[in-house]
Amino acid sequence: MKTILIFVSSLDGKVTKWGEPNVRLWSSHQDQDYYKKVWNDSKLIVMGSTTYNDDTFNPSPDHQIIIMTSDPKKYKSAVVAGQIEFTSETPVELYSRFMKKGYPQMLVVGGPHIATSFLREQLIDELWLTIEPKIFGMGANFAIDAKLDIDTRLIQYEKVNDQGTLITKYAVLKK
Ligand SMILES: NC(=O)c1ccc[n+]([C@@H]2O[C@H](COP(=O)([O-])OP(=O)(O)OC[C@H]3O[C@@H](n4cnc5c(N)ncnc54)[C@H](OP(=O)(O)O)[C@@H]3O)[C@@H](O)[C@H]2O)c1
Repeated sequence: MKTILIFVSSLDGKVTKWGEPNVRLWSSHQDQDYYKKVWNDSKLIVMGSTTYNDDTFNPSPDHQIIIMTSDPKKYKSAVVAGQIEFTSETPVELYSRFMKKGYPQMLVVGGPHIATSFLREQLIDELWLTIEPKIFGMGANFAIDAKLDIDTRLIQYEKVNDQGTLITKYAVLKK
């Protein structure tokens, strides 16, 4: 199973503008269209409870959305069988469960806490990073509060507008 981590970031590496949750207020419409397509093409999508609580999306039989939380009971009323699930599994447990089920791909859509816990366990195969040519100074990076030492290799990049938004893909090099 290929595990993909996807983020949109500013030039100075921020995935939130000054800590505010709504990424759509600053990401380009080209990135938003791209993200929508990636989302639509993904069966299995994983996110943290904060990212879930910050956004709204409708359940769909086309997607199995897994929300990671230490308190799944809190979200009992939001569960939709086969479509929206809340789990307190670790990244390793989650990965193993879906790998055994034969899923070809897992899309991890953040936020930084979830991304870091997957990176720490070396569970990410590719990082799909959109770089918006903006500088925020303050805000969260996609990897936080951990000493990581991960090498990647650029495998794809595309400039998608005049301002220079770059849609990139990096492979994580296994040690
Ligand atoms: N720019 C982008 O592409 C992008 C993408 C996604 C999110 N974001 C932004 O990122 C922000 C949210 O990120 P975040 O890092 O604060 O939260 P997050 O990663 O979405 O969620 C973290 C929460 O998940 C739960 N959790 C369950 N298992 C965990 C584990 N193994 N490791 C860590 N957390 C675990 C914990 O909450 P409980 O146990 O209490 O439920 C934890 O507080 C939002 O502002 C959002 O807009 C940006």
